[in-house]
Amino acid sequence: MNLLSPEWTALLYLVAAICFILALKGLSSPRSARRGNLIGAAGALLAVLTLFFSMKMENIPLILAAIALGSLIAVPVARRVHMTAMPQLVGAFNGVGGGAAALVAFLELEEHSASPWIRVAIVFTMLVGAISFSGSAVTVAKLQGIISGRPLIFPGMRWVMVLVLAAAAAIAVLLVTTGDGMWGGILLAVGLVAGLLLVFPVGGADVPIVISLLNAFTGLAVAASGVVLGNVLLVVAGTLVGASGTILTRVMAQAMGRSVVGTMFGAFRGGSTAGSTAISDRPVKSMTAQDVGVLLAYAQKVVIVPGYGLAVAQGQHTIAELAQVLEARGVEVIFGIHPVAGRMPGHMNVLLAEANVPYESLKEMSEVNPEFKTTDVVLVVGANDVVNPAAKTTPGSPIYGMPILEVGDAGQIVFLKRSMRPGFAGIENELLFDPKTSLLFGDAKDSLTQVLTAVKES
Ligand code: TAP
Repeated sequence: MNLLSPEWTALLYLVAAICFILALKGLSSPRSARRGNLIGAAGALLAVLTLFFSMKMENIPLILAAIALGSLIAVPVARRVHMTAMPQLVGAFNGVGGGAAALVAFLELEEHSASPWIRVAIVFTMLVGAISFSGSAVTVAKLQGIISGRPLIFPGMRWVMVLVLAAAAAIAVLLVTTGDGMWGGILLAVGLVAGLLLVFPVGGADVPIVISLLNAFTGLAVAASGVVLGNVLLVVAGTLVGASGTILTRVMAQAMGRSVVGTMFGAFRGGSTAGSTAISDRPVKSMTAQDVGVLLAYAQKVVIVPGYGLAVAQGQHTIAELAQVLEARGVEVIFGIHPVAGRMPGHMNVLLAEANVPYESLKEMSEVNPEFKTTDVVLVVGANDVVNPAAKTTPGSPIYGMPILEVGDAGQIVFLKRSMRPGFAGIENELLFDPKTSLLFGDAKDSLTQVLTAVKES
């Protein structure tokens, strides 16, 4: 017995689809992102309930057990995850989505053995879903440090890749024409191998771009599974994820000055971010927290450039207080936000919003770059690559072509970091050795706390 009529089902699906669109709209600005997220979650809940009450009431205990098991795993993981590990979490959830779509399509093979057109959608879902699953697993392992973040390549890898893709195409044709479940199993296995081969060569800073690309893949797989299952809402939701994932991938690649194809296959040409952890022993000028405090307290205009290290140190509340105290003294304080500072899109915006830094104080790269010429002091807190002039001056550098925050134009530059270790891209930053630059070594939160005390005492 179905509790919901087809008309009610269609209407409720429409409401859920509108929720998804409003969610994306909300997520496009930090101010409305929280609301957008809640609207999206409400839409997803409505979609699940609608499906539940519109289907034939079979296998209820199994379905409820699956929902309970999924929730039991996902809720604590999502609640406990650190902000710095968010890209891995997104990668994991995304991979599971792709894998689920692939499995559903595999099981539908039997149902649709007579219809070659539906089999085309099944083949697409299985292949793309499997690639997304294994590819996402590799991204999670790289970001979590389970395997090396460097490009993993072996001689002849590109030919193995060509062979695997050719095999996938041949098996896909066999599966569509015969509908034989055996080919389905083989296609899943080949898809899993293709996902591994696709992501292994991607190195260092490019991994989150690949997460976003795989997210788009999962969206497409889910949309195709909607065709297989005859579920319009899956088609709509999958298409939205596919489209937004594709846009985000392009935006991230552009912000890093790379092409998406270059990101995926750069390592084969030796061009991906190889990343090194070599620590420079060249001399630098260091400063005490006391000196930095005085410098800031008597400046007219200060730009704060936050980066990944601020998130690691969880220094957002201290930095927000420092900005307030400086402003109370009449110092103009601006936060300069690079689009790929941190490890995920909007990382710094989210971090600073958590500490209630007003949105008006956050300036994007294009807005803040002209400001540096009239800035007395730039405080670079746990950021490195996003201010590294090698992006402009060193062809062949992994970050060459990436637009940067032009902090070198300011009167003085102070870096807050723990050591002379490089940033994510694994390359030295010449700016650290500039005569205008000083370093305050230590954990960003501790250093900021000491600087704050020094400003208050000045
Ligand atoms: P990074 O270049 O990675 O530099 C981070 C700096 O923070 C390092 O110099 C590190 O030096 C310092 N640090 C780490 N922990 C610290 C702590 N507890 N206290 C003080 N300093 C600490 O960061 P960035 O400038 O934000 O650049 C982001 C990088 O990630 C870029 O290469 C970007 O392409 C890449 N990336 C970003 C994204 C997105 S979407 N945001 C996605 C993929 C990749 P020490 O170890 O010496 O302290």
